[in-house]
Order: sequence, then structure tokens, then C-alpha cells
Amino acid sequence: MKSNDTATTVGKINPDVLAFTEGKDPVLDLALAVSDCIGTAAHVTMLSKMDYQPTLFTEEQRIQVIRALRDIIEEARRGEFTITAADQDVHLAVERRLTERLGDLGKKVHTCRSRNDQVAVDIRLHIREELNAMQIELAELAKALLKVAKVHKNIPLVGRTHLQPAMPSSVGMWASGYAEMLLDDVYLLEAAAKTNNLCPLGSAAGYGVPLPIDRALTAKLLAFDRPHHNVFYASCARGKDEAVLLSACTQVMLSLSRLAEDLILFSMPEFRYFTLPRELCTGSSIMPQKYNPDVLELIRAKAGLVQGYATAANTILKAMPGGYNRDLQDTKELYMEGLRVTRTSLRIMTLMANQLQVNSDMCRAAFAEPGVFATDRALELVASGMPFRDAYHQVRDHLEDLRGMDPDVVIAQKTHLGGTAGLDFDYLDARANEVQENARVAQARVDAAITELLDIE
Ligand code: ARG
Repeated sequence: MKSNDTATTVGKINPDVLAFTEGKDPVLDLALAVSDCIGTAAHVTMLSKMDYQPTLFTEEQRIQVIRALRDIIEEARRGEFTITAADQDVHLAVERRLTERLGDLGKKVHTCRSRNDQVAVDIRLHIREELNAMQIELAELAKALLKVAKVHKNIPLVGRTHLQPAMPSSVGMWASGYAEMLLDDVYLLEAAAKTNNLCPLGSAAGYGVPLPIDRALTAKLLAFDRPHHNVFYASCARGKDEAVLLSACTQVMLSLSRLAEDLILFSMPEFRYFTLPRELCTGSSIMPQKYNPDVLELIRAKAGLVQGYATAANTILKAMPGGYNRDLQDTKELYMEGLRVTRTSLRIMTLMANQLQVNSDMCRAAFAEPGVFATDRALELVASGMPFRDAYHQVRDHLEDLRGMDPDVVIAQKTHLGGTAGLDFDYLDARANEVQENARVAQARVDAAITELLDIE
């Protein structure tokens, strides 16, 4: 009996059902091809080290498989790896390629594993690399904002609540405030990275295998922190991993969206506190004068999209029973898009911050309306002994007396931590550097482990 003459590696399927069930996997899974080969290399290496008779893989066979996997990785990096409709997904495509090349040896690689733990491990390897890159990009944006903050540290900006003038602020406070917001979002990315960096491999279909596999070894070979302790949970963690990642991405996007909204508003001709770099604006086909902030509007929209992906992932998980269910496949595009959109938005916003022009005259002109000084004056009266509520009423009854107050003087008075004259740039600089350094070290550790795993010379 020939097992490969049917439509697929795992049997004949109605073509409409095949198309429906594989969905976009033949395309989306291309992003997982390298990870799938790396996961397979770790699995086969572990099988070759197993103290088991008959030997599952000899050392010579392990080397043969890894050599073939290395070629597939090269092919994938050149963009030449393909997944056919009959393959269904990357896992069966890699197995087919190995079998074409290695014959019966290729048919052995699926020993003690299932596609469920393959896909789970592939996604984790992919997310790990993407999260490291995202953290570096996010810190780059924080640094660009910190530069805006430092260069324009003492330019007064009308601080707003309800969008109405509230109290004097500064460009330094505004820009470094967004830098801190983004750097705090990194704690969420770090949490997502922590639960992502666990190895499900060996869970197989979700219930383990009756052979003495070494799950700690595969986790170590792939530079995961450790294996999931419970293989049933390891299979349930698929989807949750993606949903947690998307929640963290949502917070990053919400931060970007609010920053985008401020930039759109403050660069309107009616404000003109900022001028957006022309090359980052787009024109109109009919109105010759236009330079529109389309990229910022799109970032605002994409914050909605990423939140939508997170909601979709959470909703797929809700009421899904334990163990693998095909529903999980539909979280794949969500997480991939969430990563792509978040990373692109971070890079675009960095371009914007790097070239942002601050118009100091317009920032100052906005202080002509004196109400913005009212609270500062009330606290001045408090400092000379008046109870606050009396000072409040006195200032409210004589708002015109505030005319002529100097915003430069007022912002120089807030010397407490985080005030306009007490901004802790050193802390934020150090945190941005730390985020980048941590991500680089983490990625270097991963790269070293994978180089060693694939090293057969
Ligand atoms: N493409 C599938 C997915 O993403 C791979 C796992 C298939 N497993 C299964 N039991 N049908 O979920």
C-alpha cells in the first residue's frame, strides 16, 4: 500500500472541506517555516539521545535530518519554500520535503509528536523573535520622544483636561510622558514574553506519548526557559499565548493612538504647536494646499484593529473546551497581523518623532488666555497663608488679574519629581537602554542555541 498517493499525507479529503479547513495556512504558515525546521531539529536531536531500544534515530541519521532541515531553512530564507494545498500546512510540507529527500528516514521525524505541539512550538519561536524586535523598536521610539523632550524641555505647552486649557505644561513633560507610557507598556510585553518562552513540545496531541521522551532537553535545545509542566495544559496554552500577546500589543497601540491624536490636534493650523514633517504627510488629489496626517489617522485606526484581533482571539478561546480544537488555527492570522501592525506603527511613529518640528512661538501664544494660570495663582496665595478654598474663590473672581503671567516662570516652579522642572530624563533614558539591552541579550541567547542545534560540522 502506498501511503502517499492520496491527496494529502494524512488521507483523502473532500476538496471543499480541505480548502475550508486549511484556510490561509498555506500562506500564513510560510512565516513559520524556519521555526518548524528548528523545532524539528530539536525534536530529532532529543530522539537521537533517548536511551531506548530499538534506537529511534542514530547519530548519523540525526545529522542527515539536520542537514536536510538546514537546506529547507535556506530555501525558506530565500523565499523559495512552498506549501501546497495538499500539504495543508507547514508541518506536513516540511515532512513531505524531508521524505522526498531522505525516504523512510523522513517518515520517522513525526515519531512522538503531533502537529498540535509543532504548531504551538513554531508560534512560540516566532513570537519570541518578534517580541524581541518589537521591544527594540518601542525603545527606539521612546528615545526619539525623549530627544524631543530634552531639546524642547522648557518650551511651555498649555496642559489640557477635557481638551480645555488647564495648567501650564511643557513640551518636555508632554513628550517624555508618552515615552514613559510606552516604556511601561514594555512590562506587558515582558509578561507576554515570559509566558511565551515555555516549551510545549512533547505534548504531542495534548496527552503525551508512551515513550520516555526528554521534554527538558528539547526545551533547553530551543532556549526556552523550561517545558510546560503539564502536557494537557501545554496544548491548552495555544491560543492563550497569542491572546496575551495581542492584549499587550493592544496597550502599545492605544498609547500610539493617543499620541497620534495629540499630534493631529496640535498640528492643526488653529494650534500649530507642532509641524509634522512634510515627507510623512500626504496630499490631496483636488486640494493643492493639503498636507494631511494620514499616517497618524491610520495608527489611530490600527489601534482599533489590534484591539479587534485581541477581542477575536479571546472570543475564540471563550467556551472552547480543553485540548486541541481546530478553532485555534484561526488565532494564527490574528496574532501575525497584530505583530505586523504594531511593529509597523512603532516604526512610523519613530520617523514622526525624529522629524517633529516644535513651534515655540505658537506654544507660547496659546497662553494669551490667562485662565490657564489660575491654579498656579491660587497655590501662590496658599503659599502666603490663605486657605485653599478661599484662594480658589478669590482667583475665580479675578481671572483678568492673571493676564501677563509668564509661563516660563510657572513651569520652572514645578520642581517636584515629574513636574515640568523635575522631569527624570535619566531614569527614562536608562530604562529605554535597558529594554533594548535585555531584548538584544535574549535574542543573542536564542541565536546561539539555534546555531548550536543546527551545527553538524
Ligand atoms: N494547521 C493546524 C493549526 O493551525 C495544525 C494543527 C492541526 N492539528 C489537528 N489536529 N488537525 O491548528
